[in-house]
Amino acid sequence: MDKDLKYNYLPGLTAPFEPQVYECPYHDLIQLPLIDWVEKNATLRIGDDTGCFRTPPQSGYKRLITEHNLLFGWIESLLLESVKEFSKWTNSAYNVSPSDSKKFKISDYWGMVYRDGYGTVPHNHFPFALSFGYYLRTPEGCAPLIIDEQSIQVTEGRLIMFGGHQTHYVPDSDVGGRCMIAGDISYGEVINW
Ligand SMILES: [Fe+2]
Repeated sequence: MDKDLKYNYLPGLTAPFEPQVYECPYHDLIQLPLIDWVEKNATLRIGDDTGCFRTPPQSGYKRLITEHNLLFGWIESLLLESVKEFSKWTNSAYNVSPSDSKKFKISDYWGMVYRDGYGTVPHNHFPFALSFGYYLRTPEGCAPLIIDEQSIQVTEGRLIMFGGHQTHYVPDSDVGGRCMIAGDISYGEVINW
């Protein structure tokens, strides 16, 4: 294994966790039911004095409506390829680990809606391996997602994947109504080294 790592050595390690962006082919099918689910269940206020609300977090295997299955099935179908992209600049032993151990799943998720004028403070999702944001409603002029000081435009149907340790935030905005689903990805054990 060490030999393989040595020969796989990649110089640089300049951008080991460049966020990845995907566009959901099923967005038109799932958008309205998922917005409805977020709007009806986003009862938890983030912080004491904000207009940012989220649904109670759910375990990843608990899919409450059909559209959760469609969205999360699609996201999970992307994970192996996505992790390969993230890991190829890391020299991580993951690159030479057995393929039958490369298993990832959505560990938890929640919906969020941003009312006028509010964002979220810088935070990250350590110790989860990866995290994601899926954008359901992005009114014109609404806030982007800032990951490690890089601004990424959010658009309806867009999935943004990033390292769970990457610090991110949503700047305050005059535009309300931004609605999304966030979640975390966990990595299973290596069964047969
Ligand atoms: Fe977050």
